[in-house]
Amino acid sequence: MNNCKKPRSHYYLSFLSTSFKILLSPVVFVAACTTSQVWAGEKDKDDENGHNRHNKHQIRSIKASDYAPVGAKKAVLGQAFFFDKELSGNRNISCSTCHSPLSATSDGLSINLGEGAHGFSVGRNPGTYPPLATDPLERGQRNAPSLFDRGAKEFGSMMHDGRIELDNSPDGFLTPAGDELPPGFNNLLEVISIFAFTEIQEMLGQPNENEISAAAAAQGSLFTPVWTKLVERIKAQPNYHPMILAAYPELKGDINGFNIVHVGRAIAHFQNSSFRTSLNTPFDRYLNGDEGAISKEAARGFKLFTGKAQCASCHNGPFLTDQKFHAIGVPQIGPGFGGVGFDGREDFGREGVTKDINDRYKFRTPPLRNVALTGPWGHDGAFNMLEDIVRHHLDAKKSLNNYDISQCVLPSRLDLDELDFIATNNPNTRYEIEQRIEIPKIRLQENEFKDLMAFMFALTDPEHLDLRHTVPKSVPSGLSLAD
Ligand code: HEC
Ligand code: HEC
Repeated sequence: MNNCKKPRSHYYLSFLSTSFKILLSPVVFVAACTTSQVWAGEKDKDDENGHNRHNKHQIRSIKASDYAPVGAKKAVLGQAFFFDKELSGNRNISCSTCHSPLSATSDGLSINLGEGAHGFSVGRNPGTYPPLATDPLERGQRNAPSLFDRGAKEFGSMMHDGRIELDNSPDGFLTPAGDELPPGFNNLLEVISIFAFTEIQEMLGQPNENEISAAAAAQGSLFTPVWTKLVERIKAQPNYHPMILAAYPELKGDINGFNIVHVGRAIAHFQNSSFRTSLNTPFDRYLNGDEGAISKEAARGFKLFTGKAQCASCHNGPFLTDQKFHAIGVPQIGPGFGGVGFDGREDFGREGVTKDINDRYKFRTPPLRNVALTGPWGHDGAFNMLEDIVRHHLDAKKSLNNYDISQCVLPSRLDLDELDFIATNNPNTRYEIEQRIEIPKIRLQENEFKDLMAFMFALTDPEHLDLRHTVPKSVPSGLSLAD
């Protein structure tokens, strides 16, 4: 059972032409807003409080102070770490493999293919059947999210299920590493940036394959031994020394003080400087009163988004997420997460973290800035067309039960293909997912739907259409940048 990638919808094409217009037209410069304002447009008649809804939903333009500050030298070091395969157990994968700037900081796949796979984005190859020892054992478990704006201070949880999050513990972070998380992190993006190293399928490799994974196996932990060995490996590369010492003057020229927190911090500075929404995007200008900054269709779509279509009840704030968890009935494809549910191939989402059954199938509301660039969509990338995930929201039950597997992008390998749709095709799983859907059915006219889609495309930051400038020419280890 193979599944193929459908061509992008016509929305994609019309989007490209508008974005080129944006790029090519002389920049219309609106009086620069240093302070941000909430949307000052028309009042929404059906708001019983008499306040305008956009204000209520706190959808406002982005300010520089929304983000943690960045240091240039740390960002340069972080860029090297982000692209250098030296940081993976088998030296065959980097952060950029799954979060490539050439693919809008993700990989274009429904579910990621981690270490052992070869090639880039939708051309990534999971190996042969029967699999060789070096081929991936299975797919990753979820869609690799984009990294846009994750350096914003309001992100209080990371991952689709929020398992890396802020809490009230002494160090302020709750993570799968528990007490093994070293002290000294400044924010959540720094913390999450050391976790891909610890995932066997993502960057670590199998226990017998390299000295880092072997140390993890010998010491019975995926955390401290991995981080310790990784720091040793980086220290063994003299090309990194000057960059590290420049980024961290507090080391006073002594490389021995270098540790895993420095690694996470540098990678966070890189992501937070390269992948943040620029100030004054067309949508931000619109929010600040420049009515012509987005098309009339998109402006009508925004009104629907905050009104009749009820999107802003979850997608609100400057990044269009409430940073909370909701069950919206996205079909389950792939291996699932943690061996739970029927056939052990379901993904319980937030319940896996809180152990509260009321959180079953809930996932973090994704931010929507640049959403048109970041497909496939959903925690498992079940939808390869933006149009389809938006339609899904309007009638989630129908979409769940009529899901067509050609809506996803999973490079084929016989044994993996056989497993990919076990959960999807199980009526019990579908029934359970359906029971927990939180969103009401919403009826939109076809022209209203088009306006809503126009608004989705209006959320693209023109500066993010081409991120090639964030890719270095080489990395300190000298390993290839190609996947
Ligand atoms: C094999 C693919 C893969 C690699 C390599 C990888 N990631 Fe990820 N990343 C993912 C997936 C999949 C998730 C979501 C996992 C989940 O929700 O369970 C994720 C989540 C994240 C998030 C959270 C985003 C959010 O919205 O919550 C950040 C940040 C991140 N990765 C950064 C990195 C960094 C930094 C590296 C390198 C050190 C890296 N990733 C390497 C696949 C990958
Ligand atoms: C009840 C809260 C809620 C409402 C209301 C809601 N969404 Fe969502 N939305 C979510 C959640 C949660 C997800 C992620 C689901 C998953 O990963 O399984 C999501 C995903 C998305 C995605 C895919 C983003 C990505 O990066 O994968 C888009 C696009 C989207 N929503 C647009 C909309 C639009 C348009 C509306 C209004 C018609 C809307 N949403 C209404 C909660 C909501």
